Amino acid sequence: HAADAQRTDLMTITRYVLNEQTKYPASRGDFTILLNHIVLGCKFVCSSVSKAGLAKLIGLAGETNVQGEEQKKLDVLSNDVFMKALISSGRTCILVSEEDELPTFVDKPNRGKYCVVFDPLDGSSNIDCGVSIGTIFGIYMIKDDVTEPTLEDVLQPGKNMVAAGYCMYGSSCMLVISTGAGVNGFTLDPSLGEFILTHPDMKIPKKGKIYSVNEGNAKNWDGPTAKYVEKCKFPTDGSSPKSLRYIGSMVADVHRTLLYGGVFMYPGDKKSPNGKLRVLYEVFPMSFLIEQAGGQSFTGKQRSLDLVPQKIHERSPIFLGSYDDVEEIKALYAEEQ
Ligand code: AHG
Ligand code: MN
Ligand code: MN
Ligand code: MN
Repeated sequence: HAADAQRTDLMTITRYVLNEQTKYPASRGDFTILLNHIVLGCKFVCSSVSKAGLAKLIGLAGETNVQGEEQKKLDVLSNDVFMKALISSGRTCILVSEEDELPTFVDKPNRGKYCVVFDPLDGSSNIDCGVSIGTIFGIYMIKDDVTEPTLEDVLQPGKNMVAAGYCMYGSSCMLVISTGAGVNGFTLDPSLGEFILTHPDMKIPKKGKIYSVNEGNAKNWDGPTAKYVEKCKFPTDGSSPKSLRYIGSMVADVHRTLLYGGVFMYPGDKKSPNGKLRVLYEVFPMSFLIEQAGGQSFTGKQRSLDLVPQKIHERSPIFLGSYDDVEEIKALYAEEQ
């Protein structure tokens, strides 16, 4: 049967990356080793999330992170797991996590040439109610492996990333990744403990019928955001109104946008001019993926991936998704200039 043939094809994420690697004869498999360690972290968090309620892994850890957020137990556990997995890969030199105020500089014996920025658990507010959450990561190469790594190596624009991805812990565990040549989705087969290629060469629809934003912030929105949302609700060109879908976990909202099309927004507003989402480990990786899938990502002022971050936990407004939908938003901001 076709289904069996499909299964015997068993393109695992490891095989996929190895195939990719053969295109770069110079590479010594470092990226493959790094990715394998990220995959290990995802498998661990996936299993912890699925039994969180049973293993008393829900609720607060009793600390507050640099973001001023009360850390959940799973925030802390996921951060520890990814830190250990990344350091033990021996392929990283600087690690930036949402949960750690300062970057981690890996000591010499364990040092490699990759900088990894990551949100170990995205959507923490949804943990206790069982709604999808995820992990987001981006990977830079250090600028030169002669001098000591410095903060400059991670304060690079998102367009310099060599890879980005997320893992979503939902009804199934899906890892979506790009190494700069398109986007591929892998689903964890728990019986094999392997991520299997289920969504090759993902492309976002050019236009969508969904907008995704926290309408609770409408009071503070600026003109262009308010105008765009108004257009979604009361279209003036005779088209039907769009649907609002907002899960509150960026990974889940972006994953739906990638598959179904439409636009995901976390605008700046009067109260928080830079919005809420963090540039390095939320805005950049998701913008990288959406661009690689044929969509685009805009900050209200510029292409998101062109941003040059000054601080590792810096925030930026973000409008990302279907190419044509984001074009409309860019036009509204251009009018305002
Ligand atoms: P995190 O849980 O990693 O701190 O991220 C939460 C983010 C993101 O997942 C989501 O899009 C956004 O917070 C939702 O914010 P609001 O609740 O303000 O809408
Ligand atoms: Mn958080
Ligand atoms: Mn997050
Ligand atoms: Mn987080």
